Amino acid sequence: KTIMQTINPESFQDEELQEACRILQNGGLVAFPTETVYGLGGDALRPEASAKIYEAKGRPSDNPLIVHIADMESLEEVAQTVPEEAAKLAQHFWPGPLTMIFPKKEKVPGSTTGGLDTVAVRMPSHPVARALIRESGVYIAAPSANTSGRPSPTKAEHVQEDLDGRIDMIIDGGAVGIGLESTIVDMSTGVPTILRPGYITKEMLEEVLGQVQVDPAILSRTINPNIVAKAPGMKYRHYAPKGQMTIVEGKTEKVIGEINRLCREKMLEGHSVAVIATEETETRYQCDNVRSVGSRRTEGSIAAGLYDILREMDHIGAEYIFAESFEQDTLGKAIMNRMLKAAAYHVINV
Ligand code: TXA
Ligand code: MG
Repeated sequence: KTIMQTINPESFQDEELQEACRILQNGGLVAFPTETVYGLGGDALRPEASAKIYEAKGRPSDNPLIVHIADMESLEEVAQTVPEEAAKLAQHFWPGPLTMIFPKKEKVPGSTTGGLDTVAVRMPSHPVARALIRESGVYIAAPSANTSGRPSPTKAEHVQEDLDGRIDMIIDGGAVGIGLESTIVDMSTGVPTILRPGYITKEMLEEVLGQVQVDPAILSRTINPNIVAKAPGMKYRHYAPKGQMTIVEGKTEKVIGEINRLCREKMLEGHSVAVIATEETETRYQCDNVRSVGSRRTEGSIAAGLYDILREMDHIGAEYIFAESFEQDTLGKAIMNRMLKAAAYHVINV
C-alpha cells in the first residue's frame, strides 16, 4: 500500500519528512515534488533501490537515472572530475532545473547509471526535494515518477494514477512550477552538449559558457535511425497519450481551419476527437473536446500545462488529437521537443 502524505512546500517542518527519510534509508521508494516534475526517489548508491525504480516504472534498465544532491560537496562524492565549466554552470543554475553529466565515481553503481561510466547529477531547488535529500542523507536517484512512456507527472495525482500500490510513499506538494524535465548538459566530453532541452535554455547556458553544442538527435524532426540520442531516455517514444496525436503548423487562421476540418472528418467517422488549443484560440474550434494548454503570452504556462493536458487526452478517451504548434525559440524548444515525441513526429504543415 502506498502512503500518501501532503506537505505544504511554503511552510513545513523537516520533521514531517521523517517517514519518507526512513523509507529512503531502508532502500524503499518515495515520489516527491521537484520544481520540474515529480521524481521517483530511491537510494542512488544501492543497486536494490534502483532495481525497484526500474521495476515500478516498467523502465528499460539501460536508461540511466539522475542523482539528486543538495550541496556541492556531494557532487565531489559522485563525480570523478568536475570541470571548471561545470562549476560555473552550478554556480549560476543550481539549485535549479539543470542536470549535468560527469564521469562517475566507483561507488555509484552501474545499475543507477544504466551501465554507463558517467553519472547525471542535479541539485533541485524545490524546498521539499532539498529537505528530503538533506534530512535523509541519501543521494536520491530519481527519474520522473511516471510509468515509462507516459507523460511525466506534474501533480501528485498523476503519480498516483501510474504508481499507486507499486511504491512506498507519495509526497503531495501540489502542482510543480515548471512542468518540463530539467535541461541535461553533458560535461563529460570536453564540449558542453545539450542532450535534452528544458527550462534552462541554450541561450542561458551560452551567457555563462560561450559556445554550447546541441545533440543532433534533439533537433531532428523525424525519427531518424542514423541519429542516436546520447541521453538513452530520449530515444524512446515518450510523453505519449494513447490516441494518435497530430501537430498542425502554419498561420493561425489556417491551422484553426485545418484542425476544424480534421475534427469534423474524424467525428463523422464516429471517433472520439480532441483539440489541444490555447487560451487565445480555444473558442474557435467546433470539436467535442477542446482543451487549452495555456496562454501564448506566457510560454511558461504552456510548459506547466502540457503534461496535464496530455494525460487528460487519455481521460477523455481521445482516439485522435489535433494540437496547435509553438515557436521553437527559447522555452519553445523544450515544449516542441516534448510535443513532437508525444505526437511521434506526426506534423502537418498548412
Ligand atoms: O527534471 C528532471 O530531470 C526530473 C526530476 C525528477 O529531477 N527527472 C527526470 O528523470 O526527468 P528521467 O529519468 O525521466 O530522465 C533522465 C534522462 C533520461 O533521458 C536519461 O537517459 C538521461 O537523463 N540520462 C541519465 N543519466 C545519463 C547519462 N549518464 N548519460 C546520458 N544521459 C543520461
Ligand atoms: Mg522521464
